[in-house]
Amino acid sequence: MHYLSLTLSVLAGIAAAQLPGYDNGSIPSTVTNSSLSFGRHYAVLNLDLINALVGSLNTTAAGSAFINNTAAWIDAVHAQKPAPLSIFTRIYFTNPKKPEVGPASPFAQVAAALGDATDPKTELYPAFKVKPNYDVMLQKSRYYAGAGNGLEEILRAQQIDTVILSGIRTSGVILSTVYRLFDLDYKVYVIANNTIETPSDAPGINAAILEGVIPKLPASVITIEQAMAALNRSGPAVY
Ligand SMILES: *[C@@H]1O[C@H](CO)[C@@H](O)[C@H](O)[C@H]1NC(C)=O
Ligand SMILES: *[C@@H]1O[C@H](CO)[C@@H](O)[C@H](O)[C@H]1NC(C)=O
Ligand SMILES: *[C@@H]1O[C@H](CO)[C@@H](O)[C@H](O)[C@H]1NC(C)=O
Ligand SMILES: *[C@@H]1O[C@H](CO)[C@@H](O)[C@H](O)[C@H]1NC(C)=O
Ligand SMILES: *[C@@H]1O[C@H](CO)[C@@H](O)[C@H](O)[C@H]1NC(C)=O
Ligand SMILES: *[C@@H]1O[C@H](CO)[C@@H](O)[C@H](O)[C@H]1NC(C)=O
Repeated sequence: MHYLSLTLSVLAGIAAAQLPGYDNGSIPSTVTNSSLSFGRHYAVLNLDLINALVGSLNTTAAGSAFINNTAAWIDAVHAQKPAPLSIFTRIYFTNPKKPEVGPASPFAQVAAALGDATDPKTELYPAFKVKPNYDVMLQKSRYYAGAGNGLEEILRAQQIDTVILSGIRTSGVILSTVYRLFDLDYKVYVIANNTIETPSDAPGINAAILEGVIPKLPASVITIEQAMAALNRSGPAVY
């Protein structure tokens, strides 16, 4: 290794260690309204919470906090009476030949390790629970939550006007989905505690998106505490 590149990689390592962690508990909320509510026509989107991605950080403190917060949120949503519409996504391909991507599809590189629906790496991480015969589980094979599936049809048919996003990773499905649903006129909330980068987060990707990019759209970044309180304050969900 050249001296320069060695120096750079050592510096990068130091920078990564000193940079704000991807979940140091300090992402500020963009919402100051102390009586925030999601209304009655909201849907909860829990994106790409699969073994391959969650398993890449479940031994870190930040990963553990992300998992606990997201699982607590999913359970609190299910405890509502009536429970609102929850939509989960998983990344997998229709069969082992992966017909959704060809060798020239850039996403083929991203999902190279993933197989079809039976591949355990594509299954929902066990800390997260789906409400059977009630929640929606969608297949996807690109970044956007609605790429190649019925997401937009379902949101429209259920007259949803507000979506609340959790998922992994912030620079992938979260960012892509915030933009698309914002442009489709949905009111978009991202729960900061419930999104994370897969390693590596350098240089400060998670914070740059949650503190910079999403607020500038402007879409809303809220804390898990605000989301839980807003859930209680929202009227009976229509679903
Ligand atoms: C945590 O991260 C935020 C966002 O980058 C940063 O503003 C803050 O200074 C960090 N706090 C600590 C204690 O590292
Ligand atoms: C969620 O994030 C907020 C702000 O970033 C932080 O103050 C709070 O402690 C976090 N909550 C949990 C339960 O980790
Ligand atoms: C705060 O949120 C509530 C419930 O959504 C809304 O009725 C109210 O107008 C909001 N207040 C402000 C100042 O935006
Ligand atoms: C991390 O996740 C992977 C994939 O689900 C699992 O096999 C492994 O047991 C998990 N490790 C911990 C410490 O939970
Ligand atoms: C997450 O929950 C597990 C199981 O309850 C617990 O052992 C762990 O300490 C929690 N992690 C954090 C960061 O709160
Ligand atoms: C929401 O309501 C439940 C059930 O009444 C309660 O246990 C919980 O503490 C409330 N949470 C918040 C954040 O208000």
